[in-house]
Amino acid sequence: MHLTKEEEKMLSGKQGNAVKKSMEILVALGEIYGAKKLIDVSSVQIAGVSYHNLGDAGLDYLAELAKDGKARVLTTLNPAGMDLQDWKKLGINEEFAEKQRKVINAFRKMNVIVTCTCTPYLIGNLPRYGQHIAWSESSAVCFANSVIGARTNREGGPSSIASALTGKTPEYGLHLEENRQAQVLVKVKAKIDSVPKFGALGKVIGEKIKNKIPLIEGIENANMEELKSLCASIATFGGTALFHIKGITPNKTIKPKESIEVTNTEIDEAISKLSDAEEIDFVGIGCPHASIYEIKKIAEMLEGKKTKKDFWICTARQTKELADKMGYTDIIEGAGAKIAADTCMAVAPIKGRYKGMITDSAKACYYAAGHNNFKTRIRSLKECVEEAIK
Ligand code: F3S
Repeated sequence: MHLTKEEEKMLSGKQGNAVKKSMEILVALGEIYGAKKLIDVSSVQIAGVSYHNLGDAGLDYLAELAKDGKARVLTTLNPAGMDLQDWKKLGINEEFAEKQRKVINAFRKMNVIVTCTCTPYLIGNLPRYGQHIAWSESSAVCFANSVIGARTNREGGPSSIASALTGKTPEYGLHLEENRQAQVLVKVKAKIDSVPKFGALGKVIGEKIKNKIPLIEGIENANMEELKSLCASIATFGGTALFHIKGITPNKTIKPKESIEVTNTEIDEAISKLSDAEEIDFVGIGCPHASIYEIKKIAEMLEGKKTKKDFWICTARQTKELADKMGYTDIIEGAGAKIAADTCMAVAPIKGRYKGMITDSAKACYYAAGHNNFKTRIRSLKECVEEAIK
């Protein structure tokens, strides 16, 4: 792989140990994937922030990089394992909180903006069409590539940190136009008109095509909340990092020869498979992190009501602060639900805490079952709120 003089210097260690280590990772990746050169990135988003997933080995790695590493481009973080301010209200213990604070402090020392959200595009890390970026949260990667038209591979935690500390990524995969073309035509014959149905669609398509790039036909409309749900589930159940939807997403693509169909029956089956919980004792909204519009709708539905089950609404800190200003937090928390900022129900250490979770997110169902041993039920936001107050 060709390196510029500046990049050679970075690799030699002349710009510090963290930059050297980062360049070693990027050069190794580039060589594995046959990249010809490194390219500049305009932003980075780092996943692998929860101490629950990092453990002490991850924390030591970050502390080492933080000795002399500084982010060179706009860099934000995925959710942490707790609300960084109100962790006690989520039942997090002091020992975990202390470790999680150390993780966040290491990132802060590296000049990373400690946003802690999987929807960076809602709170100030919004690339434009065509920009090269290095993001690692799978739902955000899919949103950036598909909905915005920016260009990123699905980075791992270490490679995204390496990009933050160097401002570079190897040019391969989805950074190249020829790798962004649709490979399967997906004819949707079902009515997809709600967040859970978009989640179910992502599950059906993801399981059928794995990590191929689909061109999806037959979707009449999709709002931001529905698209973020689709991005999360198609990446979770299939592994694709880019899709095209005719008439909705901005990237140009060829029309592939291979085609499949998605029927109403398959969508109903997917919803039923994600709904094995008989008893519900937890309501989890905000996967990916809730938008201010979703929080507004929840506040309207909860006004004057009392929740009877634990109810988390996971969101970015900045979105919560807006909800505070609008009075939504008072209404929601007055009703007994909790706005869980900086974290989510998949990365918080709550394994085994609940029997059954209701949610509007297919991805949340996947992680609740796989990581936390909860049964799940997927329903509309309205039905989730109704279940909370039942
Ligand atoms: Fe975000 Fe957590 Fe879901 S990181 S996409 S809310 S599993």
